[in-house]
Amino acid sequence: MTAAGRSPRGGAEARVAIVTGAGRGIGRAVALELARAGYSLCLAARSRDELEETRSQTGLPPERALIVLLDLAIEEAPDNLISAALDCYGHIDVLVNNAGWAPPRTPLLKMRPIDLDRMIAVNLRAPIALTRMAAAAMAARGGGTVVNLASSAAIKAPAGEAVYAATKAALIAFTRAAFGELRQSGLKLAVIVPGLVDTALIPNSKRLDRTAMLSTADVAQAVMQIVNSPAGACPVEVMLEPQLDPERPR
Ligand SMILES: NC(=O)c1ccc[n+]([C@@H]2O[C@H](COP(=O)([O-])OP(=O)(O)OC[C@H]3O[C@@H](n4cnc5c(N)ncnc54)[C@H](OP(=O)(O)O)[C@@H]3O)[C@@H](O)[C@H]2O)c1
Repeated sequence: MTAAGRSPRGGAEARVAIVTGAGRGIGRAVALELARAGYSLCLAARSRDELEETRSQTGLPPERALIVLLDLAIEEAPDNLISAALDCYGHIDVLVNNAGWAPPRTPLLKMRPIDLDRMIAVNLRAPIALTRMAAAAMAARGGGTVVNLASSAAIKAPAGEAVYAATKAALIAFTRAAFGELRQSGLKLAVIVPGLVDTALIPNSKRLDRTAMLSTADVAQAVMQIVNSPAGACPVEVMLEPQLDPERPR
């Protein structure tokens, strides 16, 4: 039974995955792969239409693909998301902290404080809060997987991306430290560090060759490798680099 005393949707034995930012880009590709692998899903973001399109592409019935509309910049949102997943399914097997946000490249001195706060909240505070709450539920059942989406900006630290790079670098450090703590409870924690991926997050620019970027499917495959790896052989950090440099002169 769920916390609300109802029978869980999707069957007591269905494996359950939460994907934040599941409405487009990498999050949608991850949701499609998890659905293909037999997971029931909890799909979270702000845009209902995009989440409904993701659900439709999974082919899952609504009772196996819960849509949760929320803004992860709001402090209560992580709590609300975990509660919604547990109320619906009764347990969580996989959490993919994919939602992330950055304004177009902006010099630090021109960065609006509201954008600075939003990046820290969405890219760092929310994944940490979600990891803590999901990990507690997973540890009570003796296993589960958390995958965080960082960025190679954390390592390259490009000009104009100081705050975004800092949030992603902190997410890598958080994952590595939490990995050491939570593996003792049978949990797997990993962070993926991709270079440029061809999504709407990357605005078109003459200096970028989109065909040289990673695809969303590349990142989704990396997520599935982590999800499917045995607990003793799960990598804590996975770097994904495009085969060609998308920022090379064309
Ligand atoms: N694209 C790249 O080159 C690249 C490279 C390295 C790492 N990454 C990371 O990969 C992740 C996914 O990026 P993407 O390229 O797929 O981005 P995207 O296409 O812009 O998709 C972002 C997703 O996150 C959701 N989201 C954004 N702000 C949110 C908020 N405040 N609350 C809830 N959901 C929110 C969006 O939905 P709504 O707008 O409807 O809320 C959307 O579903 C991010 O963490 C990003 O930093 C991307």
